[in-house]
Amino acid sequence: MNKEERRSKLLRKREESKLGGGEKRIESQHGKGKLTARERLDYLLDKGSFEEIGAFVKHRSTDFGLDKQHYLGDGVVTGYGTINGRLVYVFSQDFTVFGGSLSETHAEKICKVMDLAMKNGAPVIGLNDSGGARIQEGVVSLGGYADIFYRNTLASGVVPQISAIMGPCAGGAVYSPAITDFIMMVEDTSYMFVTGPNVVKTVTNEEVSSEELGGASVHSTKSGVAHFTAVNEIALLDNLRTLLSYIPQNCEEHAPLDGYELKDETRSVLADIVPENVNQPYDIRDVINGVIDQDSFFEVHKDFAENIVVGFARLGGRSIGIVANQPAFLAGVLDVKSSQKGGRFVRFCDAFNIPLLVFEDVPGFLPGTDQEWNAIITNGAKLLYAFSEATVPRVTVITRKAYGGAYDVMNSKHIGADMNFAWPSAEIAVMGAKGAAEIIFRREIAAAEDSEQAWKDKEQEYADIFANPYRAAERGFVDEVILPEETRTKLIKAFKMLENKVDSLPKKKHGNIPL
Ligand code: HXC
Repeated sequence: MNKEERRSKLLRKREESKLGGGEKRIESQHGKGKLTARERLDYLLDKGSFEEIGAFVKHRSTDFGLDKQHYLGDGVVTGYGTINGRLVYVFSQDFTVFGGSLSETHAEKICKVMDLAMKNGAPVIGLNDSGGARIQEGVVSLGGYADIFYRNTLASGVVPQISAIMGPCAGGAVYSPAITDFIMMVEDTSYMFVTGPNVVKTVTNEEVSSEELGGASVHSTKSGVAHFTAVNEIALLDNLRTLLSYIPQNCEEHAPLDGYELKDETRSVLADIVPENVNQPYDIRDVINGVIDQDSFFEVHKDFAENIVVGFARLGGRSIGIVANQPAFLAGVLDVKSSQKGGRFVRFCDAFNIPLLVFEDVPGFLPGTDQEWNAIITNGAKLLYAFSEATVPRVTVITRKAYGGAYDVMNSKHIGADMNFAWPSAEIAVMGAKGAAEIIFRREIAAAEDSEQAWKDKEQEYADIFANPYRAAERGFVDEVILPEETRTKLIKAFKMLENKVDSLPKKKHGNIPL
């Protein structure tokens, strides 16, 4: 072969590798309203930045006629590129090749980019679109999955890992995304389940569609498996780029800091958000948006456990994680799901050096058999543990209620928060004044001539003492009582003051978070 022939052979192979399973199968992918593996990468990454690794890899199977079916790349496009100029490692499964199923070599390609990501300290992004283990390969395919799960686990907390589900993700295959930090799903065209509708029907006699069992809507509202959903693939990829802008490349770095000059940061809009009536709800997002840099809130898990709001934002150009009770939903009470949601977010932020800001308005933990039987004890403890263990800068603002155990849990000073502010509307007590009066003054109330009036008086007495932030401030449990409109200024200064915080945990192999 001469030089010219060698050159054209390479170019031919390159062309062939770009075709995946062929034009017909690409058309079928488009027919389902889906992009191809390469189109997704083209859109996700900065223009021209993608460098492919392993484009000519072929599977090694010979059973079931596979020795006669080869597609260069073997059903996954892997490599690296940049997003907003920052390095990322990517893999994008190609459904046009054996339904994107995972063979031994397909898995090896994914493991290769994961290893590079770990050594070079950059995020791994997986675009999943796969029928699961390549059935013809049997155990070597299962081994390939386990190789990936193992790397997902080792990489957890070292580099950010993000899974975008762009099609089917079934069987044990779901466990790779599950170990990653964030899962994004496309409405109507992606689904995740451990066992599909047919197996469900056989085992439980339940009739259920793929969408009902594991579509984006189910996982974003009921199970909480998905952190983000998008109306289509383009919207999902846009979200992915935005998400990365808030997080650092790895656990040794900090998120990018936008330059910011302190100006007049007074926000009068904050003064009138909390209603006079303590039982009236308000939307905590109004407080969040009133405090942070304009339009910078990027909410995570928006439709799941809505009694707690979590997400990323910028404050004076600095990326922060926000955890906030939501009085507009179940009065902002803590329950099983909200504790799981909050705990997981806190741990992500702590692992990746993102400071935490907590807005607190919580009447306590939700009572009832449903909660107790679903282990509110263990689950509530997750949030408590996650905050207690976090060593990033941590600041709390109590806007209204801080009652009971929830006061301790929601980033109190006692569990390591650095700065705790309270608005004048704050009530820091074991419980609400009405309930408290009923318990501790029961005898006096019963013995009174007008017991209704006695109850009111006692309620007022308790409220006068505890339904304010000053008892806590006297003890130093609250560092400063501030006016709502001053909050932004105070927070920008507090996080600036804390930016070089160094804290460490006692030496241990690892803790035992109540899973
Ligand atoms: C090999 C597969 C495949 C697989 C699909 N294909 N899944 N080939 N192994 N797992 C092939 C099909 O044979 C077909 O090839 C092509 O991909 C497209 O598939 P279709 O069925 O035509 O597409 P569609 O109708 O869109 O249905 C997609 C699907 C379905 C829902 C994903 O293919 C399906 O149910 N696949 C099997 C899913 C599954 O049970 N996987 C194993 C899960 S267990 P041709 O040549 O006909 O076009 C698992 C274990 C992991 O993954 C364990 C980890 C611990």
